[in-house]
Amino acid sequence: MRYDAFTNHTRRVAVNLIFEGHSQADQRLVLMSDVGTSCYAGIHSNALSFTKGSVMQFLVFIGSVRNTTPPEPARLGARVAAACRRLLSAGGHGAELIDPLAFDLGGSFKPHFSYAKDRAPEALNRLADSIRSADGYVMVSPEYNHSMSPALAHLLNHFGASLFAWKPSAIITYSAGQWGGARAAMGMRGFLSELGCLPVSAMVHIPRAQDALDEEGQWQNDSERWDDYAGRTLTQLEWWAEAARHQRADGEVAITGSFTKDPSQRNAP
Ligand SMILES: Cc1cc2nc3c(=O)[nH]c(=O)nc-3n(C[C@H](O)[C@H](O)[C@H](O)COP(=O)(O)O)c2cc1C
Repeated sequence: MRYDAFTNHTRRVAVNLIFEGHSQADQRLVLMSDVGTSCYAGIHSNALSFTKGSVMQFLVFIGSVRNTTPPEPARLGARVAAACRRLLSAGGHGAELIDPLAFDLGGSFKPHFSYAKDRAPEALNRLADSIRSADGYVMVSPEYNHSMSPALAHLLNHFGASLFAWKPSAIITYSAGQWGGARAAMGMRGFLSELGCLPVSAMVHIPRAQDALDEEGQWQNDSERWDDYAGRTLTQLEWWAEAARHQRADGEVAITGSFTKDPSQRNAP
């Protein structure tokens, strides 16, 4: 039996009691405090734990624009993104899908920050607003020739690091083969760090994603183990997003210019 209870106020209290299907070694005892006058104890696995309690807004970027086959099936990434959104939503968080196919990026490359003020295409303006106001990012990418999705990189390249700064990201890769996109993930670490949204240490790699997930993004087998595996990364994302939100809210910390300097100021003397 699994019982999850959430109450939402300014702080959220999560009580997760998991009795069956998880060994004691797989569970953690968490003392949940900082919830007004109450203090709760719970035992739960890596599946999103929400020990602190803010409801957060995450953007889930999908990296595939491949609508044709072979290889079969097309757009495996939609399944992976659906699984991530389901897990985040189950924890009470917002999980907006950002789909590169929804953007007409044209033949030539003109980033959002290259347009004169208020002259950028409306779709880019809206996405810039979403990036600015989000608490964190989930980057779902296939592995193409051992690299991250060029469609995802292209979309992200349209926005400056200042929009992503002060927020964490999670790397989720997948492939039709046996390595789950692990080689693409290595490049994503550097990319996302430079973009300003530091990736959390845990990552998710899904080998043979076409067998692991159905078209709705449900695990076909071993659901609890997959949730636990993905939950570890998403819980780290949640933890850092919560911490970063506090830092952003603290005016003393937030006003440092170190995140917003001109790129030339990074140069050594
Ligand atoms: C251009 C291209 C390059 C690929 N390169 C790799 C690769 O380096 N490693 C891998 O495991 N799979 C590779 N694959 C197979 C993909 O893992 C598989 O097609 C997957 O479904 C791609 O995700 P998508 O359907 O969301 O586009 C490649 C597929 C394509 C189309």
